[in-house]
Amino acid sequence: MAKFFGNLHLVLVVGLVAAVAVMLGYGASAPVDTNSVFRWLHAFFGILWIGLLYYLNFVQVPTMPKIPAEQKGAITGHIAPKVFFFFRYAALLTVVTGLVIAFVNGYGHTALTFSGEGSVNMIGLGMWLALIMAFNVWFIIWPAQKKILGIVEASAEEKAAAAPRALAASRTNLLLSLPMLYCMVSANLG
Ligand code: HEM
Repeated sequence: MAKFFGNLHLVLVVGLVAAVAVMLGYGASAPVDTNSVFRWLHAFFGILWIGLLYYLNFVQVPTMPKIPAEQKGAITGHIAPKVFFFFRYAALLTVVTGLVIAFVNGYGHTALTFSGEGSVNMIGLGMWLALIMAFNVWFIIWPAQKKILGIVEASAEEKAAAAPRALAASRTNLLLSLPMLYCMVSANLG
């Protein structure tokens, strides 16, 4: 047992097998198609992305000032680079799977241009909010963090300027995540 739970990849494979068993078991009432598989993947990557956003905002950022200087390196050198790897690729895959859902169901363009009925426009708003958030991740937070974490060369001034920029973008995403999630879970377009 300890051996099984000690193996991250094996646990993930068994989770995947369990998901396939559910798909097959309930296939009659919930058909397994592109839509259902991409919704499932979308929720998985969305949770991974927003889960890490909340970890950063609720745990890491408020705790950093309390960590003794000689221990900060464990976060900046080991934890944070891993967090930002999963964070930015989860954001990308959430966008891709979300766009697939919208376009496979034929309302992608209508939603993004707000030219449909109420709930189509509602998912359009959620999509735009999440697109702004993903933009912040890739083009503001990540470039700033690369300087802050020393992944790219940066002067002391550049690092000092990057920190408040990263914080503002991260807090903007925290703020936008609340209305975005409401749109995501309430549009119910099938
Ligand atoms: C640019 C990024 C995103 C796009 C384009 C997008 C797009 C979509 C679309 C088209 C749907 C289907 C809505 C419906 O038919 O009712 C959906 C559902 C959903 N999205 Fe997103 N989304 C994005 C980001 C996110 C994020 C960050 C989360 C965070 C967890 C999220 C969570 C969900 C959930 C839980 C559902 C409901 C799935 C369902 O009811 O089957 N999405 N999204």
